[in-house]
Amino acid sequence: MQDLLNSALQAIENANNSNELKEIEIKYLGKKGLITEQLKTLKDLSEEDKRTTGKAIQEIKQKFLSAYQKKASQLEIEEINSKLTAEFFDITLPRLNKINHSKKGTIHPLNQLQQQVEEIFSDMGFEIADGPEVESEYYNFEALNIPSHHPARDMQDTFFIENKADPKHGELILRTHTSPVQIRTMELKGAPLRIIVPGRVFRYEATDATHDSTFNQVEGLLIDKNIGLADLKGIMEEFLSRLFEKDITVRFRPGYFPFVEPGLELDILWQKGKNGQSDKWLEFMGAGMVHPNVLKAGGIDPENNQGWAFGFGITRLAMIKYQIADIRQIHNSDLRFLKQF
Ligand code: DAH
Repeated sequence: MQDLLNSALQAIENANNSNELKEIEIKYLGKKGLITEQLKTLKDLSEEDKRTTGKAIQEIKQKFLSAYQKKASQLEIEEINSKLTAEFFDITLPRLNKINHSKKGTIHPLNQLQQQVEEIFSDMGFEIADGPEVESEYYNFEALNIPSHHPARDMQDTFFIENKADPKHGELILRTHTSPVQIRTMELKGAPLRIIVPGRVFRYEATDATHDSTFNQVEGLLIDKNIGLADLKGIMEEFLSRLFEKDITVRFRPGYFPFVEPGLELDILWQKGKNGQSDKWLEFMGAGMVHPNVLKAGGIDPENNQGWAFGFGITRLAMIKYQIADIRQIHNSDLRFLKQF
């Protein structure tokens, strides 16, 4: 038995890795292992011999196990260390040239522009607000002073969600503009307010180079005391000048939107007319002083508060800023288009 122990300890000592060690354990302590076999012989011995031999075998087993454990943890440490050396990855090494850099992604031009717009308005103290794309007729029209059968509903051809009317808020639709978020934010936060709302809007219309059924708008809303249109003009000139990185002049023209009174359109002076030719103006957005009915719908007292709102197409702005000729390129994910940004 002493020989058995010596050969076992020798084998443990010589094991090169944990797999070999595992096999040694099976060889000695497995179901048919050499030490196990010794235990099986006990049943044929006398009571007296059983006790002494049994004790001796148990001692051998204990010695085997403690040598085994010691070797196992030593091998484990060795194996972790060699793995760490083999798999060491130097993150400070310069990149390999064989990586194909043309596969690197870029941020979509629309998102780039939206980030810029958010940044500029945030600097001017505006918060970014948000609302659902699936909207109710109430928020999209009613609360914005556009009752049913109002001709303005036909100006914005609408996608309806089938069989989703509810008695309080009317049919469920895809929002046709970001203006419903005016009402939702008034309800949520009350006056004063200074927000912009970038978001996706949907119109049921035929698609061509300048019309898409999905596009992006930015709504603006400022409510406080003693607010006038001069503030709007100043803020828009500041915003546009920062965005286009040059001084921009704007002008107001009268316009009609049911949710503002007076309503107006804002144009950008795009090119000064030379040699007696007239100036070139770009229509940019709708705006106006928020209609008292809209303030009331949002739970704000029109006697003590006033403000203005605006809405522009950020898709259209992207087309102007990046000189994109066809609006359909913006959403068709053509890599030849996207790689340019
Ligand atoms: N919601 C309008 C549209 O989509 C744009 C608009 C016009 C928004 C005037 C306004 C506004 O807030 O005051 O055509």
